[in-house]
Amino acid sequence: MTGVKIAGVGHYAPERIVDNHDLEQWLDTSDEWITTRTGMKRRHWTSENEATSDLALAAARNALANARLNADDIDAFIVCTVYPDYLFPATACIVAAKLGARDKAAFDIEIACSGFIYGLTVASSLIRAGVYNRIVLIGAETLSKLVNRDDRGTAILFGDGAGAVVLESNERDSFLASELGSDGSRPELLRVETGGSRCPTTHATLDRKADRIHMEGREVFKFAVTKMIAATDRALAKAALTKADVDVLIPHQANKRIIDAAMKYLEIPPERCVVNIQEYGNTSAASIPIALSEAVRDGKIKTDDVIVFVGFGGGLSWGAVVWKWVA
Ligand code: ACO
Repeated sequence: MTGVKIAGVGHYAPERIVDNHDLEQWLDTSDEWITTRTGMKRRHWTSENEATSDLALAAARNALANARLNADDIDAFIVCTVYPDYLFPATACIVAAKLGARDKAAFDIEIACSGFIYGLTVASSLIRAGVYNRIVLIGAETLSKLVNRDDRGTAILFGDGAGAVVLESNERDSFLASELGSDGSRPELLRVETGGSRCPTTHATLDRKADRIHMEGREVFKFAVTKMIAATDRALAKAALTKADVDVLIPHQANKRIIDAAMKYLEIPPERCVVNIQEYGNTSAASIPIALSEAVRDGKIKTDDVIVFVGFGGGLSWGAVVWKWVA
């Protein structure tokens, strides 16, 4: 077994910024409601001609530059997304080709907002097992295109963006533990109903907007707090660490109240928790790698810091990874 480390980070968000006052123009909502209920102030939305692979590509380029590597140096490309360019081919294939990588492994992981946590576990395992030496792992989403923009319960929440990491084999191991979970017994709590084999798209499904995100917000809220806490506790126990050992916690950015409630229970002070929800909203699988990339850029992460990445989302699904930042 070899170790794994993060050799580079990068992120990208579309230029167009939609703030809470912009949303007030067509939704029965207010800056005050959105700020107090979610902590969100702004989100970035793609233009019509930007797709998920475009965001993923920009983030991957930034991460490769940060690692001082070229696409040729990479063995595999993984994109975590809930809204790929197409049902198939995989978005990762498109990104790898646009980066100029030829004949390399490329595949997508779809587990909604938990995508990056699952992806980090899979990619790290491939490297630690000696299958690959370097992997570009990307979380990328364009959920502004998947929401019903007239549904105030969801349209205010989601933003677009991408974050990427370059993982490479290393003598010292960053990967300390992973805890992943799912409960698919109630998909109706958070899903896009139509467009798959269970319910192919028809004029009728389009008319009732079944091709857009549907979420039972209150139910998801309760589940999110419970699972973030449990996943963090279990992952730390697997790593033989305690809450007091955590230097930096990078949670999925779904709702500031969810983050605050979980941090309170975990007794992690605000200065050790990375929050950028006010700027991006919920970017699903992209939220954790964007937050990581910003934290590295801003000097918030030091060598030997213990980082917990924790997320939850559609599935329902959840996960946490305990990671040591090594040089
Ligand atoms: N503006 C104003 N009022 C609103 C808005 C809005 N944008 N949205 C809902 N309301 C109203 C509701 O209609 C309701 O009114 P009523 O009492 O007259 O019926 C009232 O506000 C309260 O609604 P709730 O849904 O109970 O509000 P809540 O405090 O739960 O906040 C929210 C809603 C922000 C969606 C919250 O439930 C939440 O964050 N849930 C978790 C979402 C999440 O984490 N998703 C992550 C996964 S995403 C993925 O995996 C793709």
